[in-house]
Amino acid sequence: MILPLVVDTYKSMPELIPVLSKKEIERSINDLASRISDDYQGRDLVLIGILKGAFIFMADLLRQLSVAAKVDLLRFSSYGAGTSSSGRIRLTKNLETDINGSDVLIVEDIVDTGLTLAYLIDYVKTFHPGSVKVCSLINKHENRKQEVTIDYYCHDIEEGFLVGYGLDYDEHYRNLPDIYHLKI
Ligand code: IMP
Ligand code: MG
Repeated sequence: MILPLVVDTYKSMPELIPVLSKKEIERSINDLASRISDDYQGRDLVLIGILKGAFIFMADLLRQLSVAAKVDLLRFSSYGAGTSSSGRIRLTKNLETDINGSDVLIVEDIVDTGLTLAYLIDYVKTFHPGSVKVCSLINKHENRKQEVTIDYYCHDIEEGFLVGYGLDYDEHYRNLPDIYHLKI
């Protein structure tokens, strides 16, 4: 049982309402990792984590996989300091691995409008991988603007701005082991 927290580092005193506990997250990642391990046996798997939000999720997912996987990271900036998408996407860290012919699995923290994901699928495809699939910790439905296929995800969330387990609000709260709904 996790208790709601009130964090006093902001003047507005945002409230954190528990949404997913670290136990629930761990269980869903274990299930996801066994599905991915089954699907990628004997393949040339490359996980591409999307910084910064996905770094904790990717580290936990990777350690549960029973198949070999290479790892690389991409970073796009799309959000500013607020809680809604700016719609502007800029590449700020590129791939360092040759993914030509490889089976790429994009690892995202959360898909919200879908704009970032649609952009980055197209971007990854320009490197001619053998296949591209997407895995996200959270599939959030509230603000979807672009239809995107999320091949694997751990949790469906209808609405709200989430923080914790790598997810931030203005670079805060990434360290929380559980996931909370941030109410400002
Ligand atoms: P999209 O382009 O709107 O789908 O935005 C995707 C990115 O925005 C995610 O990869 C997150 O980094 C960030 N984001 C979207 N919703 C949330 C949220 O509820 N909490 C924290 N970050 C979020
Ligand atoms: Mg992100």
